Amino acid sequence: MVKIAPSLLAANSASFGKAVACLDAAGADFIHFDVMDGHFVPNLTFGPKILKELKPLSQLPFDVHLMVTNPDDCIPWYAEAGADLITFHLEASLNPLQTIQLIKSFGIKAGVTLRPNSDVQLLTPLVDLVDLILVMGVQPGFGGQKFYDDTPERLMYTKKIIGNRPILLEVDGGINFQNAPLCIDAGADILVAGTTVFKNDAYADNIAKLKGIA
Ligand code: DX5
Ligand code: ZN
Repeated sequence: MVKIAPSLLAANSASFGKAVACLDAAGADFIHFDVMDGHFVPNLTFGPKILKELKPLSQLPFDVHLMVTNPDDCIPWYAEAGADLITFHLEASLNPLQTIQLIKSFGIKAGVTLRPNSDVQLLTPLVDLVDLILVMGVQPGFGGQKFYDDTPERLMYTKKIIGNRPILLEVDGGINFQNAPLCIDAGADILVAGTTVFKNDAYADNIAKLKGIA
């Protein structure tokens, strides 16, 4: 069964606590935090304080997606704030091997991702070191964008690079009820969805529909 990681970027900041507390019961499997520094992407979002204060409200793993330049600088902050998994952009790291080792040194899982227009082949040297690969369905930086139609193809290609290694394949950005089945068929293990999950506050129904069980 595919897993769902609601992206908190799509929730109303005034009720993050309520949203996070409800997501466990609503069938979510992770909580996805889109960390943006206003430099790697033209947007600014969650600091580690938010994760630290939300952590006691949820049993779900905190899935942190760093859209920041030089991720090594802030990885310790999010690891100590409660991240269970940290994914960074290869384009943003000066030394991806070192960044992966830094994440793992905190005893948490390491993921890598690329902008949609970057060459997926860049992942090949890292496949024996990471726990997760995140395929972007949109340009990083904002929720509510239109899904790139070549995302399922990029998922299939990434799945081939993964082979039979125990690496989770996650897809993120623009996921809706129409393209979710395409991503699942293409091999995605985890769907990140913000707009679709938080639509009309119908978290449980939306999550069930994305899983294909409603
Ligand atoms: C975009 C983020 C995505 C995005 C998902 O930079 O990485 O997680 O917030 O939101 P929706 O599902 O609204 O596209
Ligand atoms: Zn994300």
